[in-house]
Amino acid sequence: MANPLLRALGFSDAKRAVDSIAPRRTFDDVVLPPATRRALEQALVQVTSFDLIFHQWGLGERHRNGLALAFNFAGPSGTGKTICAEAVAHALGRRLLTVRYAEVESMWMGETPKNVAAVFRLAREQDAVLLFDEADAIASRRSASVEHAFQRETNTVVSVLLQELEAFNGVVIFATNMAANFDPAFERRIRTHVLFDMPGVVEREQIWRVQVHPTRTPLAADVDFHALAERYEASGGDIHNAVLKAAMMAAGEPGPDASKSIHQRHLDDGMRDVLAGKRVMHQTLARPVESTITAFDPAEVLRRLESQLHNGRTPVSIAFLALIIAIVALILAVVR
Ligand SMILES: Nc1ncnc2c1ncn2[C@@H]1O[C@H](COP(=O)(O)OP(=O)(O)OP(=O)(O)O)[C@@H](O)[C@H]1O
Ligand SMILES: [Mg+2]
Repeated sequence: MANPLLRALGFSDAKRAVDSIAPRRTFDDVVLPPATRRALEQALVQVTSFDLIFHQWGLGERHRNGLALAFNFAGPSGTGKTICAEAVAHALGRRLLTVRYAEVESMWMGETPKNVAAVFRLAREQDAVLLFDEADAIASRRSASVEHAFQRETNTVVSVLLQELEAFNGVVIFATNMAANFDPAFERRIRTHVLFDMPGVVEREQIWRVQVHPTRTPLAADVDFHALAERYEASGGDIHNAVLKAAMMAAGEPGPDASKSIHQRHLDDGMRDVLAGKRVMHQTLARPVESTITAFDPAEVLRRLESQLHNGRTPVSIAFLALIIAIVALILAVVR
């Protein structure tokens, strides 16, 4: 076990939970809507002037706690949150320590708070920018009821995280798809929320361009990034996946490699594939279950009857409908 964190955590789950990299991607690799870029620049100014204010001007000695620069990168999937965290670390010349919280959460009762503390220790040792990816779970509200052991554990984890943030004087980034559940105490320690919006047409066209190599990717003459940007309302992550799919389709076509190139139809098919895959996921995972039970509302019944009359339904069918409604109302009244 070469990684000190693995030693500190002492169990193999940590291998999947923490990643320490020397960042390579920079802000040149990211195309952002103007509002997101502005918010990110403000966040960076806080980081770059940190040394001036807290070290050179001596305020760090007066204010020893609460110096962590904690940012929340919030927005839909594939809008560039992770890549921007890497670019922040690159701009600061530090390593990036990425923590996937879901995997820090230990199956052993009482271990998770220790794991969180160990992660901060490692970030300190490496002088790394700490990124809590998929941080929705960790920053969620503490539970008022502590009937169950797991609720007590969750509350302890949030408290440990708050203490660690208080004592840490580095940069911490939380990346979340949805920040609505943030614990208010946690919220106070976040300096800046950077909202990652979906890219508009102008940004999408640029993202298509940055996803291919400027000189080595063989693009056919019919490739039109502007048309693709207008046609598909996709995130940067979707465009990234579509380009890879297109490249695979082009490379899989028969003939010598030297004659192969990526055509517009490959890019179109790649994006259609990506969007179709997302629709399937959306339907299976996120579709709300429609309730078939609705409250009995007499006004609604009258509205329906009126509409039936306007639609020229026969009096017999209306009487039948009224009878059914009356029976339902009677049953509901008895049940209540
Ligand atoms: N704004 C962007 N500019 C350029 N490329 C982008 C942008 N957004 C996403 N990409 C591409 O999509 C890939 C995935 O983006 P990234 O992992 O940063 O998204 P994310 O917001 O962290 O998504 P998730 O919430 O699913 O973790 C990047 O590696 C990059 O290739
Ligand atoms: Mg991410």
